[in-house]
Amino acid sequence: MLDYRSLGLVNTRGMLRRAYEGGYAVPALYFISAEQVNAIFDAAGEEGSPVILLASPNLRGQLGGFLTARMVQGAVERLRAEGLAVEAALHLDHGKSYQQCVEAIEGGFSSVMIDGSALPFEENIALTRRVVEYAHRYDVTVEAELGALGDEHLGADSLDYTDPEGAAAFVRATGVDSLAMAVGTCHGMVKLRPGPDGRLPELRYDLLARTAELLPGFPIVLHGASCLPPECVAMVNRYGGRIPAAAGIPEEQVARAAGMNVCKVNIASDGWITAMAHTRRVLAENPGAIDCRVFTGVTRGALRELYRHKMQLLGSAGRLGEG
Ligand code: CO
Ligand code: CO
Repeated sequence: MLDYRSLGLVNTRGMLRRAYEGGYAVPALYFISAEQVNAIFDAAGEEGSPVILLASPNLRGQLGGFLTARMVQGAVERLRAEGLAVEAALHLDHGKSYQQCVEAIEGGFSSVMIDGSALPFEENIALTRRVVEYAHRYDVTVEAELGALGDEHLGADSLDYTDPEGAAAFVRATGVDSLAMAVGTCHGMVKLRPGPDGRLPELRYDLLARTAELLPGFPIVLHGASCLPPECVAMVNRYGGRIPAAAGIPEEQVARAAGMNVCKVNIASDGWITAMAHTRRVLAENPGAIDCRVFTGVTRGALRELYRHKMQLLGSAGRLGEG
């Protein structure tokens, strides 16, 4: 059992409570490599922002659970050695089973998501409650999901908005620490499709507001909230990529949700596409390169700027907690 506190990490309870009270949200950022971990901590250090590192269950398979946690520990220690304060959580994203959550907690994760959203309501409650009982023994925080986020592979019809009354019952029955709600965001590269009137739909702020009435002080999580800037998609395509269509959530919509009860915003696609655009560009500009460092440094710098921007957009910059 690797205790996350020994790695210099915290769970998400304090950072999400302060985000609720302060009307902002903490960015949750994906990583699969050392450059990405460094970029996340570069940005957190420069902006004085709390941060959540997202690891998928697959990552633990690819890197091994041991390296995943130790890489993050190393980055925390680097910042502290530079005299900077750090407030970071290591979070398992979309845990599929009780066992995956247990293994993550044993491997040094400070927070886990159990995604039982595909299960019937009562089974989702039972699974989530089991994970909460185990996780809380070690003061690890738990996120669950209710409703179905859109998924471009399943089509727009796959989106099933989360009902606030159901969310309130779910939270009371499980004791979960945060909840991912479906309010109009979507995993993948096409997050929004214009309606019959040709206008982009808005996130369902009404569902968030009603949930805040029923669950005052309770933090909501937004998945699939990348903005997918057109210039970044264009850069990928200009340098040999082929992304035919991309439509992210407009920044002002994400910022508005962050000002409400949304306290954690997951950002995956924006990181992927930024890294991809700059890697493709630098490889095209350096056709004779044989040293991978020609792109690792560029990727790190581009991601650092993206993440700094997200911290400013969501309002988490300058919001480090004590200790
Ligand atoms: Co907020
Ligand atoms: Co997600």
